[in-house]
Amino acid sequence: MKKFTALIPGGRNGMLGQALTQVMLGSGWTTLSPGKKELDLFDQHKVEEFIKLHQVDLVANTSAYTDVDGAEEDQQKAFLLNRDLPGILGRACREMDICLMHYSTDFVFDGRKNTPYTTEDQTGPLNIYGRSKLQGEKVLLDHDWGKLLIIRTAWLFGPFKTNFVHKILNLARKRKSISVVYDQVGSPTNTLDLARYSLELFEKQTTGVYHVVNKGQASWCELATESINSAGLSCRVVPIPSSEYPQKALRPAYSVLDCSKFSMVTGVSPKPWVQALRDYIYYYEDHV
Ligand SMILES: NC(=O)c1ccc[n+]([C@@H]2O[C@H](COP(=O)([O-])OP(=O)(O)OC[C@H]3O[C@@H](n4cnc5c(N)ncnc54)[C@H](OP(=O)(O)O)[C@@H]3O)[C@@H](O)[C@H]2O)c1
Repeated sequence: MKKFTALIPGGRNGMLGQALTQVMLGSGWTTLSPGKKELDLFDQHKVEEFIKLHQVDLVANTSAYTDVDGAEEDQQKAFLLNRDLPGILGRACREMDICLMHYSTDFVFDGRKNTPYTTEDQTGPLNIYGRSKLQGEKVLLDHDWGKLLIIRTAWLFGPFKTNFVHKILNLARKRKSISVVYDQVGSPTNTLDLARYSLELFEKQTTGVYHVVNKGQASWCELATESINSAGLSCRVVPIPSSEYPQKALRPAYSVLDCSKFSMVTGVSPKPWVQALRDYIYYYEDHV
């Protein structure tokens, strides 16, 4: 069987990048995540040389500017990392005729629907992060070379890096009650599942935009409650509206993603989020 090699921008420190690295290594891949000093991802020529030298089969771009509130202040950096960098990686992959698997977000949607968003649904980001990520998608789709995979995902939790679930459990160990918003609903997703599902898509040699998340939906409040219960803690979760938890960036009230296109192509039905959450809490939460 042919052994594949992946270049994974964001694979050193990123939450998804590290999960993807672990899953790929477990599946026999060689993974490369050079540091910023070893490879300047903004230099297309250097990226192409790297791809040639290491006989890279796939670039899996997990690098991004992911600070949703920070993006409102630092728009330039958000667009640099979320629009310009994917464009450079896309051009390099097109030149080298290899696949780019790029990650995007549920925040490309405005949240006015109340049924899961399909890949055909109209986008309409509410904040700078969402706008910059959508621009990244558009730059890539404008130059599609038939080996482009864009995976929109959402509400990630997993090992290797702090995340919402990890923060909630830390708070729950210290406090008797915490307040969490109930009027934002999304698709909680385990990074290790997402990594496995991403490989399924790559193996099908398919192209285009896909939604990939764990099954079901939850509010932040429900996700917090389920996390605390699964960890056997006894902190009370007080539901509050978003208006009582002001944040710089506006968030969609509803951004659940419909994965039916993914399931149709791969034959895989994503694991329910509660089960995915327990996998994380039981096996990994102590090792972050
Ligand atoms: N987290 C979520 O809930 C969520 C939801 C929906 C979609 N997504 C998407 O999923 C993807 C992965 O998200 P994540 O949560 O894993 O992000 P993350 O943990 O913030 O990781 C992003 C990584 O990008 C790296 N990076 C930034 N600039 C770089 C550069 N010039 N060269 C090399 N690496 C660079 C960062 O490295 P340094 O730390 O060294 O700067 C960081 O490790 C992103 O595309 C994100 O938009 C995430």
